[in-house]
Amino acid sequence: MERFPFVFDICYPEIKPSRVDNHITRTLSSMQNQFLDLQAFDEMLLAEDILLYEVYEIKRPEIEGELLSGFSIVHPGKVGKEYFMTKGHFHTVLETAEIYFCLKGQGYMVMENPEGDCAVEELKPNRVLYVPPRWAHRSINTGSQEDLATFFVYPANAGHNYGTIEVQGFRKLVVDNGNGPEIVDNPRWLAPGARK
Ligand code: F6R
Ligand code: ZN
Repeated sequence: MERFPFVFDICYPEIKPSRVDNHITRTLSSMQNQFLDLQAFDEMLLAEDILLYEVYEIKRPEIEGELLSGFSIVHPGKVGKEYFMTKGHFHTVLETAEIYFCLKGQGYMVMENPEGDCAVEELKPNRVLYVPPRWAHRSINTGSQEDLATFFVYPANAGHNYGTIEVQGFRKLVVDNGNGPEIVDNPRWLAPGARK
């Protein structure tokens, strides 16, 4: 592991860091029950297990004091009316924050805390988004052709809790009912009072 300061450059136009230690790919099959339209999901999956998003990570020791950073690239597309999105997660160490810097594309970050408060912020090039400690986050690409590319940085000991979101969902969804992106309530969301 590098013990001296280091730099890396972004290779345009595909937006990839010149230094990548870990490349994660997530396809449709890893998003079971996450999209609202289960039938559209099943039909799409039957045709092809397509690539939804990729993460390029700069590896560092996952200990307090270190920072993890990298690039998240959500490809364009929809499952039914719902735009392609990341799984979304709380950090295992709940009291850890994250910063996202949008490099390319258009989209939203959907966020919520364990009390059920929610926030949705638009992502567009050169916008910085601060996700405070305790807020789960999911990025959504609303572009019709273009990738949504962000650079992220967060405490290396944060960890990822995907299970909570898999069960309760996010309170808000971003869908296209024919007039472009619309933020709507998720009818399958489990409110705090309905959770076990
Ligand atoms: C790290 C973080 C991002 C996401 C990435 C993919 O804490 O928020 O690096 O990991 O955007 O999203 P998930 O992890 O939800 O599949
Ligand atoms: Zn995170």
